[in-house]
Amino acid sequence: MKNASSLRFLILATGTAALGGLLFGYDTAVVNGAIEYLRIHFDLTAAEHGWAASSALIGCIFGAALAGVLSDFAGRKRALLLTAFLFFVSAVFSAFPESLNQFVIARFIGGVGVGAASLLAPLYIAEISPAHMRGRLVSLYQLAIVSGIVVVFFVNRYVQGLGSESWNVDYGWRWMFGSEALPAFLFGFLLLWVPESPRWLIKKGRREQGLEIFSKVSDVRDAEAQVKAVEASLSNENSGSFRQLLVPPFRIAMIIGAGMAVFQQLSGINVIMYYSTSIFSQVGSSADTSFTQTIIIGVINFLFTVVALLLIDKSGRRKLLMMGIGVQLAALTLTGVFILTDVHPYWILASILVFVAAFASSSGPVVWVVISEIFPNKIRGRAMSVATIILWVSAYAVAQTFPIFNEMLGTAGTFGIYAIASFLSLIFVIRYVPETKNQTLESIEAIWMSR
Ligand code: BGC
Repeated sequence: MKNASSLRFLILATGTAALGGLLFGYDTAVVNGAIEYLRIHFDLTAAEHGWAASSALIGCIFGAALAGVLSDFAGRKRALLLTAFLFFVSAVFSAFPESLNQFVIARFIGGVGVGAASLLAPLYIAEISPAHMRGRLVSLYQLAIVSGIVVVFFVNRYVQGLGSESWNVDYGWRWMFGSEALPAFLFGFLLLWVPESPRWLIKKGRREQGLEIFSKVSDVRDAEAQVKAVEASLSNENSGSFRQLLVPPFRIAMIIGAGMAVFQQLSGINVIMYYSTSIFSQVGSSADTSFTQTIIIGVINFLFTVVALLLIDKSGRRKLLMMGIGVQLAALTLTGVFILTDVHPYWILASILVFVAAFASSSGPVVWVVISEIFPNKIRGRAMSVATIILWVSAYAVAQTFPIFNEMLGTAGTFGIYAIASFLSLIFVIRYVPETKNQTLESIEAIWMSR
């Protein structure tokens, strides 16, 4: 790192890109709080309720699939600007729908933005960061996701307090969704000042511009070396095809990336992030209390993400995952038992908080970090986009099926399903996930070769 001004430049650029994570958190979690009023407003069935909550996630799948190609063609910065535009349009249109279909279309548009940003933000950060800071800077992206979640929980609580139950059913949810226009606008505005990714510029033959940006984040000799390293790795990367993802020795890395993405979502974390307000009112809390309890969840999620960031490079990925998923399994089982035995709702809140703390200090950040580091240089771009698509498909499946399972099996039974998934996830981690702490990307690559 050259000096304080380089560090400032780097933090401003990566911090702005990380705001893509903030919008990701905000947009996906806004349904929590808004969805119950929307359900009453449009008189939705269980399946329609699931569809209203999860339609944005279908957009995410498309967004994650399109972002790679689009950002290769138009550049990372322009692709990120497009996501800000999609967030803005979606926020405005999801505030005014007159039917479920109009609402679903508006949410789908925002979802495309989230899916694209979920790939572009870490990609951009990784491409502009010097190697020794990359891990921490990519982890900041997860911190931005949970910040977006907790901010929107506060916003939802604030809006809910503005009027009566019937005002909320008619208008409150519209303000909740519409409020995203403000952070979306800010994100777009700030993006205008960030530089294009130096790596993309070099890939497009704009070597001098790439060198200039690298020199802003490191000293000139390092920058020249970095440009050469990028040129060398690009010539490698171009030869990686989708088919290679399934050929040994890369297949195992792909299985691990995909498996971690699926298990992160099957933990049921987003049932809490998207539906906690409804769950709390179902188990006996008033509307005010349910909104406040949801805020507590958001705060715990944020605090324990910070804990994970402090530990991830010291205790390692595997230890964090095994401990976190173990606690997660116990907490999910207890939540189910508490709901069945009709205890005071505070016990249910307590066990859900333990679950969220366990997730936030393990699978939440670790899965994103591992997905960005286990793939060999040659296939990283494509493999990351496949893993991200799989993550969103799983997120969609869980969000869509929750109201249906809830009606069929009850809330306790549904939590039982997530507990079983956590058990399988623990076995998966113990059996397959390697420790990648303190290893260069090349030595991680060597693990696959030696297998
Ligand atoms: C997950 C999101 C989730 C968030 C919760 C992220 O790691 O990918 O789906 O909403 O954590 O904090």
